[in-house]
Amino acid sequence: MAKILVTGAAGFIGSHTTDCLLGEGHAVVGVDNFRTGRKENLATALRSPAFALHVKDVAAPGVLAALVAAERPDAIIHLAALVSVQESIANPELNFSLNVQASQLVAEAARLHGVGRVVFASSAAIYGDAAERPIRESAEKRPVSPYGAAKLASEDLLLGHGACYGFTVRCQRYFNVFGTRQDPASPYSGVISIFARNYREGKPVTLFGDGRQTRDFIAVRDVARANALAATRPGLTSGAANICTGRATSLLDLAGIFAAAHPGVGAPVHRPARAGDILHSLGDPAAAAALGFTARTGVAEGLAELISEPPVPVLP
Ligand SMILES: NC(=O)c1ccc[n+]([C@@H]2O[C@H](COP(=O)([O-])OP(=O)(O)OC[C@H]3O[C@@H](n4cnc5c(N)ncnc54)[C@H](O)[C@@H]3O)[C@@H](O)[C@H]2O)c1
Repeated sequence: MAKILVTGAAGFIGSHTTDCLLGEGHAVVGVDNFRTGRKENLATALRSPAFALHVKDVAAPGVLAALVAAERPDAIIHLAALVSVQESIANPELNFSLNVQASQLVAEAARLHGVGRVVFASSAAIYGDAAERPIRESAEKRPVSPYGAAKLASEDLLLGHGACYGFTVRCQRYFNVFGTRQDPASPYSGVISIFARNYREGKPVTLFGDGRQTRDFIAVRDVARANALAATRPGLTSGAANICTGRATSLLDLAGIFAAAHPGVGAPVHRPARAGDILHSLGDPAAAAALGFTARTGVAEGLAELISEPPVPVLP
């Protein structure tokens, strides 16, 4: 059994990662300031004696280091971030503080207190508009937003510190993650959570362009398992891996699956394509497979679960 500190534990990916680690018998120290996360997401975890939640800001100097000194985790999974590309464009200073400085504070906490491993939530956004398809880890990195640039800078910061001070760093380049607990109220939320809410409420969805854009959608349950593996599997060395399925799904395909489950809802409304939208994004999952991770949940299966799942209840 390992003790894992998870930053951003109350978020979409963080809460599923926490549940997965607890399910595998590990102890979890969760940290979150509820910037975008919710206590409700941790309803299961909070019932476990192996889970402790600290409401703290990991971007504030000294805070994480003090917690790591007190808790002595075997690994840190760093998920806390400003997660929206659009918000990073509107507020690049805040993006720098939450997505670069906070990573430096994670590296510092690991260095000062002998943490053996750091798992970092990177993103396919570091590849930007790279033409390669499927995208391998060696593809040229051409981030086109402050968010993508910060994720790339954080990878380098953490890998450099790990190499110098002797801890392992695993950078997880998530593609499009979907599943329960993703907040559809955010205007920046993933397309699937917005589709799910609209269809549930009987409202037609909007497709920008012809709807033939494709994405590599990966179920959050698989991402949680990938994070747990990266944090706990013995013998892993530092590096980066795409966390993806290697399968492309178009937005029209998605709308078709939702429409079949909600026959009364009107057809999608088409609007002109948005400037800057990437047409196709597809990852190569081979490097993660070599480390022991392969996604198991298909889009149709994951969507069926999402459609049948009741919304997360509000905690008192
Ligand atoms: N969802 C995706 O498709 C996707 C894709 C690529 C990368 N990522 C990355 O995965 C990570 C998790 O994203 P998510 O989709 O679960 O988003 P989320 O907003 O649900 O989770 C982020 C969590 O971090 C917390 N947080 C933010 N700043 C904090 C701070 N300074 N101190 C403490 N807690 C803080 C938030 O309250 C929230 O609970 C992020 O690093 C994100 O950039 C997500």
